[in-house]
Amino acid sequence: MKIINYKYLYLGFVILISLGNSSAISGASRWGADYFPNIPLTTHEGKKVRFFDDLIKDKVVVINFIYTHCGDSCPLETAQLTKVQKIMGDRVGKDVFFYSITIDPKNDTADVLKEYRKRFKAKWTFLTGKKEDIILLRKKLGLYIDGIQDGSNNHNVSLIIGNQTTGRWMKRSPFENPHVLADQIGNWLTGWKAAPKPKNYANAPTLRNIPRGEQMYRTRCATCHTLDGNELVGALGPDLLGVTERRDKQWLFNWLKAPDQMLKKKDPIAMALFTKYNNLVMPNMRLNQQEARALFDYISDETRRLSGESKKMQSKISNNLGNLTTR
Ligand code: HEC
Repeated sequence: MKIINYKYLYLGFVILISLGNSSAISGASRWGADYFPNIPLTTHEGKKVRFFDDLIKDKVVVINFIYTHCGDSCPLETAQLTKVQKIMGDRVGKDVFFYSITIDPKNDTADVLKEYRKRFKAKWTFLTGKKEDIILLRKKLGLYIDGIQDGSNNHNVSLIIGNQTTGRWMKRSPFENPHVLADQIGNWLTGWKAAPKPKNYANAPTLRNIPRGEQMYRTRCATCHTLDGNELVGALGPDLLGVTERRDKQWLFNWLKAPDQMLKKKDPIAMALFTKYNNLVMPNMRLNQQEARALFDYISDETRRLSGESKKMQSKISNNLGNLTTR
């Protein structure tokens, strides 16, 4: 677990950087209305809102900062979020709220944002406000770099994903695979959201200590793979139940380390899978040996657990049948 940008780690603010290094950090977090500035903002429709009260309170949110005449990174970010929005469907605006806030309010009026939003077929809320307020907000969210920020429109390209109810926040690269992002936003955060609401952060329930392999699997693999022997029609990737038994160990390590390289070398198994799964290349997640091992351990454990369960079921069924015949 590597945390960079120490400078931007504000009290209790949990920032997880890049999938390659992610893991949940547990710990008491107790910031609410008193931590986040309740700054006034205006939506692309000209509606006046308050940041804390109207945008994030009791919600799962995705926040990024943009400006409309930014040539490179913002359009990419917006396009990427559009993909995430598409994957998440009607959960956006219901379970999960996306906000793009301009860092250039002088040029980005509500009307300009409205136009921009339309161009990207974005369905979420774009916001403008007072420059100082927005800088304060970016500082609080850990998305502000002194020096290169002021005066120029360079900005720290990042997304913040958060769940105000549980006080979990993390920083994400918007260039993450959109399926992975959608999965994290949708399942992981709303999973927490669904938990009973603690009276205050100090009483927040402690989460089960999830083993590393399981956690990695959930955050990095579950978007494309199932692990229960029930592969869905049109699944993005193969079901992984029993994969540690059906494939050579070295092959699996090589695969996880660099699937793209295996395809480049025309490994026959990889090529066959690639064709079968619609020519989708599994992303190279730069997993190291240790991470790969943790993942394989988890997959093996699940395989054993589930096959144990199906054996139990079978013996139950045959016992029942036995009872029937002896009766
Ligand atoms: C974006 C989707 C995606 C993600 C995320 C992903 N995979 Fe894959 N995976 C695939 C696809 C697609 C294939 C089939 C080969 C191909 O087309 O590249 C595959 C193949 C595999 C295979 C070989 C399966 C077999 O039957 O031999 C393993 C093992 C595997 N993935 C493990 C993982 C693990 C572990 C993770 C998480 C660290 C992961 N994958 C994340 C898409 C994905």
